[in-house]
Amino acid sequence: MLDARALPKAELHVHIEGTLEPELTFEIAERNRIAVAYPSVEALRAAYDFSDLQSFLTVYYAGMNVLRTERDYYDLTIAYLRRAVADNVRHAEIFFDPQAHTSRGVPFAVVANGIREALGDAERELGVSSHLILCFLRDRSAESAMQTLEAALGDRERIVAVGLDSAEAGNPPSKFVRVFERARAEGFRAVAHAGEEGPPEYISEALDLLKVSRIDHGVRCLEDAALVERLRRERVPLTVCPLSNLRLKVVRRLEEHPLRRMLDAGLLATVNSDDPSYFGGYVGENYARSAAALGLTTAELQTLARSSFEASFLDDAARRRYLGELEALQGGPATVSHAPTV
Ligand code: ADE
Ligand code: ZN
Repeated sequence: MLDARALPKAELHVHIEGTLEPELTFEIAERNRIAVAYPSVEALRAAYDFSDLQSFLTVYYAGMNVLRTERDYYDLTIAYLRRAVADNVRHAEIFFDPQAHTSRGVPFAVVANGIREALGDAERELGVSSHLILCFLRDRSAESAMQTLEAALGDRERIVAVGLDSAEAGNPPSKFVRVFERARAEGFRAVAHAGEEGPPEYISEALDLLKVSRIDHGVRCLEDAALVERLRRERVPLTVCPLSNLRLKVVRRLEEHPLRRMLDAGLLATVNSDDPSYFGGYVGENYARSAAALGLTTAELQTLARSSFEASFLDDAARRRYLGELEALQGGPATVSHAPTV
């Protein structure tokens, strides 16, 4: 059986704040002299027992309260990239939530500089490329999102796209039409979480009103056959996060995860980790556990890895280079076979 961890892949849906491991939480809390609400790493990890998206978000926003300095954001980001490289992630498009930091008094530049420094070091030292995606918190106002975009305009290095995350139900994409229009006019690509807990209509709204080029999650598309047909025809990428959906009770069992039906329907799905510290697995684990639960074949795992590069915001030369690495591993067109004759 193919080791899915070894496949060269891109990760397209990971929140940097969701990679904060309890060990690092305590280390940063100590040096910043901040109290953690739990007595130990084990007790903190034991609190990661969620009933839905909102129950997770409450813990997630509380957890990132320890992050204050550029060094904190650097340490968080470099730790994620080291772990991702162990799963042969060759390229990462990483979400960050500026409003969750600026609203606590941490300046945008502190967050962005710390993250970017780590991305640069990881590119040079570990060979992993990366982009940033600035997410707006959809449960805050459109005005707050616009202010966040304006802060990023003067400080946009490595930010390729804007996204939309946080509590989905009751916060439709239509709330953010103006800010996405402005972001696209400024040259950013757009993505949005849609159809995770929210209805399939939010997926259509994200495509029609926000003009997104990818949908994050999108698993509830299966409730609308016409929408599935549209996503297939237009080859809209969907960044699926199986272990996240399991831990947030979007699905009851991994064996019932919609990824199987999405692939069978011909959708351009990719596999990602979302908030791996909280959901029990980085991207390699998401591939491996989905393969075991859904009976994914070697060819399907290779398709998922290929789709991850195809759905990325890489330029064509870089995309071709990474796809070549994948083909070389599969003995495809990029390799010359020198198999010995025995
Ligand atoms: N922020 C971090 N993880 C998220 C998720 N799975 N859905 C919405 N917002 C998020
Ligand atoms: Zn997410």
